[in-house]
Amino acid sequence: MRRQPALVGAVVTACLLLLATNSDHWRSISTRGLPTLRWSAPQSELYSNLCGPTSIQNSEDLRLGTRTQPTDLGTTTPSVPYALGSDLKVGAHTWGYSVLDRLYLRNGTFYIVTSDRDSLPTKAEIIHRLGRISTQGDEDDEGSELVKYISPAESRGVLGDFATVISGVSFLILDPPRYLAHFFHYWGEVLLGAWRVYSSLALSSDPSLINSLPFPSRFVFPFVDNGEWRDRADLNGPLMRLAFPDVHIVKSDVWGDWIKTGGTIVFERSVTVNRVSAHKSSLASIWFKMLSSTQNITVPNQFWEPIRKSVSQQLWGYAPQVTNSGRPASTPRLAPNPDATGIYDSLPIVTYISRQTTGRRLIDSHHEELVAALRLLEIEGVCTVRIPVMEKLTLKEQLAEVASSTILLGVHGNGLTHQIFMPPSLRSAVIEMQPPGDYAFDYWMLARNMGHKHFMVQNDTVTTYRPGEWHNGIHIGENFHSNNIPVSGSVVADLIRERLMQMEEKVED
Ligand SMILES: *[C@@H]1O[C@H](CO)[C@@H](O)[C@H](O)[C@H]1NC(C)=O
Ligand SMILES: *[C@@H]1O[C@H](CO)[C@@H](O)[C@H](O)[C@H]1NC(C)=O
Ligand SMILES: *[C@@H]1O[C@H](CO)[C@@H](O)[C@H](O)[C@H]1NC(C)=O
Repeated sequence: MRRQPALVGAVVTACLLLLATNSDHWRSISTRGLPTLRWSAPQSELYSNLCGPTSIQNSEDLRLGTRTQPTDLGTTTPSVPYALGSDLKVGAHTWGYSVLDRLYLRNGTFYIVTSDRDSLPTKAEIIHRLGRISTQGDEDDEGSELVKYISPAESRGVLGDFATVISGVSFLILDPPRYLAHFFHYWGEVLLGAWRVYSSLALSSDPSLINSLPFPSRFVFPFVDNGEWRDRADLNGPLMRLAFPDVHIVKSDVWGDWIKTGGTIVFERSVTVNRVSAHKSSLASIWFKMLSSTQNITVPNQFWEPIRKSVSQQLWGYAPQVTNSGRPASTPRLAPNPDATGIYDSLPIVTYISRQTTGRRLIDSHHEELVAALRLLEIEGVCTVRIPVMEKLTLKEQLAEVASSTILLGVHGNGLTHQIFMPPSLRSAVIEMQPPGDYAFDYWMLARNMGHKHFMVQNDTVTTYRPGEWHNGIHIGENFHSNNIPVSGSVVADLIRERLMQMEEKVED
């Protein structure tokens, strides 16, 4: 767990900027001079430090194949004598995201019992700060007071003779509510990153192992009161129920109860998340996303599928798939969809998430030309086009729009987060529109994790990258959030036609 001092300055500046702007994005930051790191595609030879073979072994401890039942934290937390003094085990780890077995908690402090501290992640790598802007320099801040390392010999004196066992898998979200209360940040970064790192435990020659990875029993938000983690559109909460139907959401009140018990608690298996730590990874200075550090962890192909399938299962009773021809294998029917003619239901579905009722949007006439060009594709018999206005639809209707789509199209914005519920398929793609010259990695990164191809359309120019390659740096210009983003409708239509009509062997990853 060596730190990388040369990069720390740049990264800290970047972190502070992120915290100071309170926007989805950083102002433009040059990435020149930073190392080029290869994207770690599934099956590549890259492993992060602590995953790979170690984690496969650990997964055997985990009663794979059985879904751990949640403990009822409200009433019957089992007070089982638990042998203290055994070393913490690291299942997988990267900056800001760690899978830790036997993490102790007492009086609001996490204790890591270890006889070999040097082999473990540093505090700063697990949790650095609670997202506050600190006036301290980086060197003053060696990690939060929240974590302490003790030796097995010390543990009895500090932790006592026994602990209350919190069984199963606990996702410990060690962040204040600020970024949690946002659909993209919560689902596309916190949860996706945690699940990605956790899913590395299911790396195996047996690709179906990912389907039996136990779901988390609880999410713990120690620094969140009441509904502070919920987003304005109110997607975060209901989606949690759909993804993890029996998960407990544990917030500051229960955290306070744990402190007041005066005893020691031990989490059988925890997955810790901290935004500031995540941003300290050198990979974060390439993509400027919280998720960056997790991209260096090798994970099973389609690691996200258990979650998409769970959500789909709860909504439709099955998980829609799309065939190699781009056609939906079956389409959920429900939504009063004014655009659906019903005639073309067996054609590939292109969903254009219009932002024309919001601030950041296309020039109105360009939007109209784009819609006309898409309607021509329908007349040609290339695809069915849906143009939902997400903010007017219920959650179920919103997900129905993308549940069996092949292509998701939209101006850079939250609507493109819906791609995490679009089935990965040979031709699946996200087409993002940004002003000429601008580039942000948010939805490119989501698409790469989901197994969708990502295309950036800047007016009449299309940019795309193969696995292992990416755009050089981000640029958020003054037009980025404007209401007059230009786009050539015919360029977008040509791109869609090619993606859907080209021969299978020509379709690019
Ligand atoms: C990515 O993984 C490689 C291989 O384990 C490691 O050498 C490198 O330090 C990692 N990079 C980052 C930024 O974590
Ligand atoms: C528990 O933590 C609080 C706040 O950090 C501290 O004031 C108190 O002394 C601690 N109690 C014990 C028993 O260690
Ligand atoms: C957008 O593309 C069109 C067609 O190529 C061109 O005429 C126009 O100048 C471009 N607009 C911008 C803002 O780049």
